[in-house]
Amino acid sequence: MQILQDKKIVLGISGGIAAYKTPELVRRLKDQGADIRVVMTEGAKAFITPLTLQAISGNAVADSLLDTQAELAMGHIELAKWADLIIIAPATADVIARIAVGMANDLLTTLCLATSAPIALAPAMNQQMWHALATQANVKTLNERGYQIWGPGSGEQACGDIGLGRMLEVNELVTLSSDFFADKYLQGQHWVITAGPTREAIDPVRYISNHSSGKMGYAIAHAALRAGAKVTLISGPVTINAPVGCQLISVNSAEEMHQQALKIAPECTTFVACAAVADYRVANIATQKIKKTNDAMKLELVKNHDIVADVANLHDKPFMIGFAAETQNIEDYARGKLMRKNLDLIAANDVAKSGQGFNSDNNALVLYSAIDKTEIPLANKQIIAQKLVSLINQHYLAKQS
Ligand code: C5P
Repeated sequence: MQILQDKKIVLGISGGIAAYKTPELVRRLKDQGADIRVVMTEGAKAFITPLTLQAISGNAVADSLLDTQAELAMGHIELAKWADLIIIAPATADVIARIAVGMANDLLTTLCLATSAPIALAPAMNQQMWHALATQANVKTLNERGYQIWGPGSGEQACGDIGLGRMLEVNELVTLSSDFFADKYLQGQHWVITAGPTREAIDPVRYISNHSSGKMGYAIAHAALRAGAKVTLISGPVTINAPVGCQLISVNSAEEMHQQALKIAPECTTFVACAAVADYRVANIATQKIKKTNDAMKLELVKNHDIVADVANLHDKPFMIGFAAETQNIEDYARGKLMRKNLDLIAANDVAKSGQGFNSDNNALVLYSAIDKTEIPLANKQIIAQKLVSLINQHYLAKQS
């Protein structure tokens, strides 16, 4: 079943240029099974027509508090009671300010006062307006009142400025909406996840690395977030975006990853080492670009710290999960690593099989504990991550009891 099946969502649209993306948002939310009713402010109608949103949502659009006909159809109080979730996207600085002070001078702000449903704001405004003290104070107030603040994102803005203030992309808003309704069984836990490759510098322009895309680690971070955990992602250089809501610590080398992991690990409940950490680094990194004057050259390599093993040796070690990417004797190697690195669990994958593992969108895993093993069959990495996170939690809870 789709996670938004039969969920009743009011989409409030206020007057920002990002309003042009809302028909697509309605479509994607409906694809996930949601029933959508749109409420527009006067400003929103300057950017997009109610007719468009009515056609896409399949429901009448509400845009007036004082319209007798509209109140007969589904009055504002009825709408406020109907909603399982209210999403305001785009949420302008103006609408945020009006909600923060409790105004009820149009249908949307009245709805916010009249509802007991959770409300999510997807801010969208010029970066200077976002950073304005008044906006920040309003957002803080609403956050403290339990409003979800989804974004804003960073990047180029309609006005030409670059910075924070873009409405999150439609796919990110749809993901956040379905995550919102997911079971929050990891509430109160803090997961630290290492992901991606590391880069070991040779000289200022060259490095040694590997093909890790970071997709598996990022999918685990998303699955843990969705289940309600606080998530810190320590990531090597990758080309994918971190899930909205996690704390991202970007690193390059194994040594940097080691340093960050040891700093944050004592605070967490669960540590998942998914990064493809380089085993060796260059002993002496050249300070200037190495010239190709010789026919051959030798690089001296020294072993990197084993991050997961060092975290597992901490006095107050978190619940520890490692990964074993193998091409043969998978169970033997995986169990060997489980013991040697002092881990609670190890997730093994066969990287020799095509269409799974490194750089692929799919994976298949076998999760080993000291006493048992569980197979997670081939699937998309998002699905694998959700199953893995749930299994890790079951083992974690069993260890606590
Ligand atoms: O020993 P091997 O590299 O095969 O072990 C893989 C596991 O150990 C993975 O969980 C990986 O993230 C972790 N690892 C690490 N630091 C290293 C090497 C591997 O945390 N230097």
